[in-house]
Amino acid sequence: MDPKLSQKIITANLELHHKEAQYYDLIHREIFNPEEQSLISHVLADAIEIINMPSISALDIGAGTGNITLKLLDNKNIGSIVVVDLSKEMLEQLQFKLESNPKVKIVNADIDSFLEAQTKGFDLITISSVLHHLPDYFETTEKILKKLNAGGALLIFHEPTGQKSKLLEIITWLDSRLFVNLLLPPLVKEVITTLDHSYSDYHVYHDFDLEGLKKHFENKGLEIFYFNQHNVFSLGIFRWLARLIPQKNNFILGIKKLK
Ligand SMILES: C[S@@+](CC[C@H](N)C(=O)[O-])C[C@H]1O[C@@H](n2cnc3c(N)ncnc32)[C@H](O)[C@@H]1O
Repeated sequence: MDPKLSQKIITANLELHHKEAQYYDLIHREIFNPEEQSLISHVLADAIEIINMPSISALDIGAGTGNITLKLLDNKNIGSIVVVDLSKEMLEQLQFKLESNPKVKIVNADIDSFLEAQTKGFDLITISSVLHHLPDYFETTEKILKKLNAGGALLIFHEPTGQKSKLLEIITWLDSRLFVNLLLPPLVKEVITTLDHSYSDYHVYHDFDLEGLKKHFENKGLEIFYFNQHNVFSLGIFRWLARLIPQKNNFILGIKKLK
């Protein structure tokens, strides 16, 4: 990728997450709702069982306000977690929730620089709603795989499938309009209507290559042990209706590196 574009994506992410950090959990109801939270917890528990180690070293990439980190900490088999995020404001939100926890090491860095400098590997690597924010997610995925220990697992949550249909488009529009206008406090609504996602969420607007990513893993002899495509929406009524829509807007992928 052109280095100027790459830098533009990083800068846009710094700006976006600086602005939305304190409201992140509130405005991302498509993630922070009971069904989605329960699904994430189940997938994490399954992966931990598959890894089957008594003290798992985990890395949570782009951990943000702690969606994945906090669930990992609830599992007794997690021995340590390194949490990396570009945004210091997002990490501050996580820090409020964590207070002090000796199992967690927090690193404020760009993930590519972190992975290049990191010498040790991890048994479990999680990355939730981050790949589409990165300049070159294929290149970063390569670096991630190099840091995944044999017998370990990589879990990718909440990325766009790129599937499209008129119905999906209408429901997505309605879900977002009703949620923002009816459920968000006016001050928060004011902030989020000023947010520009065009470069921060670059690969949402430039077709995320899910099939390419799956092939990439398969060609490397990695085992895909979990794959789920489903619709994520903020409002319960649309999450219910989502089952009737053939196209799905989101995926979760679990990859295992053989021993
Ligand atoms: C949509 S949030 C996801 C947060 C959390 N993982 C979750 O599931 O709610 C994306 C996160 O990725 C971080 N991020 C974006 N680009 C990054 C990069 N190049 N390196 C590290 N973190 C990055 C952002 O600061 C933000 O906290």
